[in-house]
Amino acid sequence: MTGNVLEKAITEGKKILIVGSGGREHALAWKVSQSPLCKELYVAPGNAGTEKWNIPLQVDDIDALVSFATEKEIDLTIVGPEDPLSIGIVDRFQAQGLKIFGPSQEAAKLESSKVFAKTIMDEAKVPTGEYQTFTNKEEALKYLGRIGAPIVIKADGLAAGKGVIVANLFDEAMEGVEKIMGGAFGSAGNEVVIEEYLEGEEVSLLCFCDGMTAVPMVAVQDHKRALNGDLGLNTGGMGTYCPPPFWTKKLEQEVIDNIALPTLEVMHKRGTPFTGVLFLGIMLTSRGPKLLEYNVRFGDPETQVVMTLLKSDLIPVLEACIEGCLEEIKIEWFEGTALCIVMAAPGYPGSYQKGIPISLPQNTEENKVIFHAGTILNTDRVESSGGRVLGVTVRSDSLVSAREEAYELVKEIGFPGAHFRTDIGLKGLKY
Ligand code: AMP
Ligand code: GLY
Repeated sequence: MTGNVLEKAITEGKKILIVGSGGREHALAWKVSQSPLCKELYVAPGNAGTEKWNIPLQVDDIDALVSFATEKEIDLTIVGPEDPLSIGIVDRFQAQGLKIFGPSQEAAKLESSKVFAKTIMDEAKVPTGEYQTFTNKEEALKYLGRIGAPIVIKADGLAAGKGVIVANLFDEAMEGVEKIMGGAFGSAGNEVVIEEYLEGEEVSLLCFCDGMTAVPMVAVQDHKRALNGDLGLNTGGMGTYCPPPFWTKKLEQEVIDNIALPTLEVMHKRGTPFTGVLFLGIMLTSRGPKLLEYNVRFGDPETQVVMTLLKSDLIPVLEACIEGCLEEIKIEWFEGTALCIVMAAPGYPGSYQKGIPISLPQNTEENKVIFHAGTILNTDRVESSGGRVLGVTVRSDSLVSAREEAYELVKEIGFPGAHFRTDIGLKGLKY
């Protein structure tokens, strides 16, 4: 952004709209609201934590969102979840001349189709697991019979984070194919990817992208399984911390050079350049970093820790992505560690209770934020309304102190039956 544009933005202030209702969107709203550039903020539809900014529009009601942004003369819309991206919210906003941060529908296929993602990984020569794709269930089962377990089965389409089955045993793999191709996820399971099982530490590297340039954020380690010790069912994520002690500048460069940039180049050559957040799910294998998946958005609960460590103003960074001038922007981060513990409703990720009353401490210190996710305000009372309910987040000098302070803060929250892991960040302490 040139000096003039920046000056104008500061004097006039901006109207910002955030689309989504999770912990990720609360974290984005928390960060954006601190910017001197932000004049007005709206969150659609938001949660109890974003109450003062909420507007009652659903994330997939693109017509209503476009009308709202047009009427209010919104200067910048930031999209949280994958669903609106996969149905083309960015294309629709741009067609009306509205500025929006996120990839086009075609570029969002990197997340909305695992088969498409694998095709791009091949074209870009990105290191990833060996795989085969199948549209025929019998052929998929026959292939499994030859290759055995451990193995990973992935539904092609979006399945709310549940379409990936990591099968340690052969029977689990066969059941996985039966389940996915038998219609458990509707048309998302019409095609499957059967992929080599990869072992190692898993890292989420989110990159700001302007079509040609990729600038990495601090690397994050998520905790996807429901129970301590990475046991139990896969979830959207039960907690995060950043940066992992085993992450190095060298690894970051390797991932940018061998994964992020070749991907951007292929997408650009196809005429569908990628703008937005390219979220790389990386496995650090004994043969180097390999890509597990692309997501085309901020992660949840990755964003809660990343926004906590981001020192720079977020708004100019997002605008630079849209304008294609990311190279001109310097992004600064706080030293130290951020850690987020997800408090979930009893039963999550299975069926869970809603409407549980929640009491929160009146004040928290500056380095501590309780991000809301599945919460609503019922008159004056905060109640749970989703599976992942709160993201208790702390920034501190070290991983040890961040863990201690975050678990202390959890104790101050009244949330009967809350389910949370007690080992968030422990993996990092091994190093
Ligand atoms: P995805 O939605 O593709 O990220 O998969 C969800 C989770 O499944 C990942 O975060 C990993 O923990 C796991 N996973 C995916 N692919 C593999 C693989 N090839 N080997 C081992 N684990 C995997
Ligand atoms: N925490 C993983 C995701 O956002 O997909």
